Amino acid sequence: MKVVGICGSPRKGNTEWMLSKLLEQVAEKGVETQLILLREKRIKGCDGCLSCEAGGPKRQGTCHIQDDMQQIYPALMAADGFALGTPVYFDMLSGLLKNFMDRTCPIWPHLESKPVVGLAVAEAGIGQAVANLKAYAGICSMRWSGQVTALAKLPREAAKDPELEPTLERLAGRLVRALRA
Ligand SMILES: Cc1cc2nc3c(=O)[nH]c(=O)nc-3n(C[C@H](O)[C@H](O)[C@H](O)COP(=O)(O)O)c2cc1C
Repeated sequence: MKVVGICGSPRKGNTEWMLSKLLEQVAEKGVETQLILLREKRIKGCDGCLSCEAGGPKRQGTCHIQDDMQQIYPALMAADGFALGTPVYFDMLSGLLKNFMDRTCPIWPHLESKPVVGLAVAEAGIGQAVANLKAYAGICSMRWSGQVTALAKLPREAAKDPELEPTLERLAGRLVRALRA
């Protein structure tokens, strides 16, 4: 069993800390984990060519854009569950994470039935960010297994909330139970 976390923050900040803590707890429960930091990846925008649809309903993970998504596609298809993390930007998910989601067009049918949890962090209000993550999960027919949100502005500010780590541990438990269900 393997859970892949996707971090949609362009900095080493609160989202990354929350995802790391969540994945630590997932690993404690005997599940392999991988954290993909989109800020370290070279991922171009989807150009809308739709050639990825050529394989029919079970797309084979082919995108003509040669960048870091080519290594990420097999990891996504092989994963059993996911954790999506985003900072809130203008009440929505970050552009970095949305760009990644758009580029999953060649493989999204392979995500069907896989459990997914969401993390979102904002300075003042989560806005539509969790709804954005749920919308993606819904379109991919993934199993939404819960979310944790936090309020923080500066990097590592979320780590000062003593309630957050236990809350992330509970979400990790839900995700692992969903994996095994
Ligand atoms: C471009 C930009 C837009 C933002 N928009 C919002 C917002 O709409 N609402 C909010 O509460 N915080 C907003 N913030 C604050 C971030 O959500 C906050 O700093 C968060 O901790 C960032 O997460 P990170 O540390 O993982 O990068 C914005 C920050 C940036 C850089």
